[in-house]
Amino acid sequence: MKIKNKDFWEKDDVIATQRLKKIADFEHYMLEKAKKLYSSSGAITTIKIFGCGSGREIESIADFYKPTRIVASDISENMIAKCSENLKLWKIDSITETLAINATEYNKISNSFELVTILNSMMTYVPERKDRIAIYSNSFQILKPKGIIVGTVHNQEGVFAKTMYFKVRNLFSFIFGDKVGNRTTGFNGFEVPGYYYSKNGLINDLKEVGFKNIEVNSLDEFYAKNNIVYDRKKGYNNLIFIATKP
Ligand SMILES: C[S@@+](CC[C@H](N)C(=O)[O-])C[C@H]1O[C@@H](n2cnc3c(N)ncnc32)[C@H](O)[C@@H]1O
Repeated sequence: MKIKNKDFWEKDDVIATQRLKKIADFEHYMLEKAKKLYSSSGAITTIKIFGCGSGREIESIADFYKPTRIVASDISENMIAKCSENLKLWKIDSITETLAINATEYNKISNSFELVTILNSMMTYVPERKDRIAIYSNSFQILKPKGIIVGTVHNQEGVFAKTMYFKVRNLFSFIFGDKVGNRTTGFNGFEVPGYYYSKNGLINDLKEVGFKNIEVNSLDEFYAKNNIVYDRKKGYNNLIFIATKP
């Protein structure tokens, strides 16, 4: 059944699939790297989390940075309700404000956060390029100078069938234009319009809104740097990114 992004993430059975395990090793790497990159300007104490869902990453982020303020938002009201329950359980509700809002519309403040996170492929569910650019642009605006953005997106390269699917679409990029990376995604019987990035496409989008010092690695590249063999058949081979606001 075809369904829109927001309606998909409002469904109870979709929310129930969101596991609350701690952050992954590559997410921990990005948090460490952000801390190091920002260290010459100070400590990371204010954090904006986009696409927080039921809050999985918030507990680990709060543990890691001991921030004074987190603003966590998601397009889905039901996700935010679940997230607020979890924040109380984890006793971090007093430092965390939650908001149900499309990330494209979070543009009323400037220079307020030292870190922005867009983890676990929220961007996959933003199929229009103008909306993805609006989200990166909002992230840039709300960051303080020298602030850091970290995130993960789905990758066009991974298992053979997916890689081939996008290789063929790339051959016809003169027809598809900025829709080369579009592919239906979803689960639990729902089909949602999705977007998969190429490494260069992601670098270009981040550059376009002003980010510098951009680092993008696929998970197999990340693990290879750590002498670990990544099994593409078992994972999505997502792209992880870190960039700085000059
Ligand atoms: C795969 S879930 C990840 C949730 C959480 N970050 C985690 O790691 O468990 C993606 C989340 O992005 C949210 N999302 C999708 N499009 C969004 C948008 N345009 N603005 C804000 N949130 C969005 C969805 O509602 C969903 O909660």
